[in-house]
Amino acid sequence: MEKKTIRDIDVKGKKVLVRCDFNVPLKDGEVADDTRIQAALPTIKYLMDQGAKVVLCSHLGRPKGEVNEKYSLKPVATKLSEELGTNVKLAEDVTGSSAHEMADSLKEGEAGLLENVRFDPREEKNDDSLALELSELIGSDGIYVNDAFGTAHRAHSSTEGVTHHVETSVAGLLMEKEIKELGAILENPEHPFVAILGGAKVSDKIGVIENLLEKVEKIEIGGAMANTFLRAKGYDIGSSVYEPDKVEVAKGLMKKAVDKGVEIVLPVDAKVAKIPAGTELNADVIESTEHKKVKLYTEKEVAEGKGESLEGWQILDVGDKTLDYYANGLEDVKTIVWNGPLGYTEAPSFAHGTESIARYISASEAKCVIGGGDSVAAIKRIKKSAKENGENVNQFNNIYLSTGGGASLEFLEGKKLPGIEALDDKCKMVNKDSCGSKNIEQEKE
Ligand code: 3PG
Repeated sequence: MEKKTIRDIDVKGKKVLVRCDFNVPLKDGEVADDTRIQAALPTIKYLMDQGAKVVLCSHLGRPKGEVNEKYSLKPVATKLSEELGTNVKLAEDVTGSSAHEMADSLKEGEAGLLENVRFDPREEKNDDSLALELSELIGSDGIYVNDAFGTAHRAHSSTEGVTHHVETSVAGLLMEKEIKELGAILENPEHPFVAILGGAKVSDKIGVIENLLEKVEKIEIGGAMANTFLRAKGYDIGSSVYEPDKVEVAKGLMKKAVDKGVEIVLPVDAKVAKIPAGTELNADVIESTEHKKVKLYTEKEVAEGKGESLEGWQILDVGDKTLDYYANGLEDVKTIVWNGPLGYTEAPSFAHGTESIARYISASEAKCVIGGGDSVAAIKRIKKSAKENGENVNQFNNIYLSTGGGASLEFLEGKKLPGIEALDDKCKMVNKDSCGSKNIEQEKE
């Protein structure tokens, strides 16, 4: 069922509580990547232009229900003020006297920000008392807007609970766009359709693979999660990170893929680093070790002396031959969904696979939907350098970068996200009356 949006309602003069996802990276007390702030601006500007009194709310990081200056939304308020060209006041608390003072002081067309909602231990418990207090900030005719797609998979007081205490709960423009773009991929993709999945864990992607097996022709798998699939196929992966308890799951997924006629493409070669098993990985450790490019062999081949053993080595990126296979597999494809890095991108020596696939996707004409921090960052770097080189960046118009990490994965799994489900359904208007009045007819699902 389609959800009502801010365009379907009148907000003039009303207090509007807008849940955003301002969970952005910070560096030296400043916003290091403002993607999520930029993505929220259309909704905030629209509401301000329409004469709403905009009370913004977000979490930042995981402060575990305690006030912690490190996770204060101060840098976000500063960035918002710069972007909106007007002072965005920051309340000192979430629903206390400072929050009420801030909300009550807003004039039409002004915006203020509550302090990090996860400073309140009730938020992540979806505690009804916090939900009620949030609704009280905007009064009985207040409106709730959820524009935090990135947090829509969490049923928290500010994403779900609050909707039970307000008359009107609608989607913001970013939420609307995310639902449209990701929804189109699941409901009506043009074929051939290929998924590229990377990242560390198979466990994070089982649901996505299962759902996508119903829709795609091919799944290309990279990142550390590919190691678990390689183990399942009897490959020697040396001391590479993998999930022993997911080897059987990987086997099951590969069998399902065969049954459904979906091709699963795994790495055939890799870039490895000489790191003993159990060593805690970080970019410095990785960069300081010996690296080499290798072809991958099964344990049987190694035992028969047909291939080199990877004992003492860890696979940290896909190899060139694998990239060729991936790229060949993307030729003439009409839809691509990509989530997760193909290697250990924090270590520059192992970012090549992710960068290459990002470059390939950027040059492709397929409709692409990309989620997950590393994959999105790789595309953004390429777009930035294309812009700096004066290249035509229209080629990026076919690429949709989702602001959701976990949320976009759960959406692709076909799950219903609580932050979306809780919003009012769009209704077919018989008269010009607004949805929710007596003159409407509920649209049949
Ligand atoms: C995200 O960055 O994926 C969202 O902001 C959700 O954050 P969380 O995983 O801490 O709930």
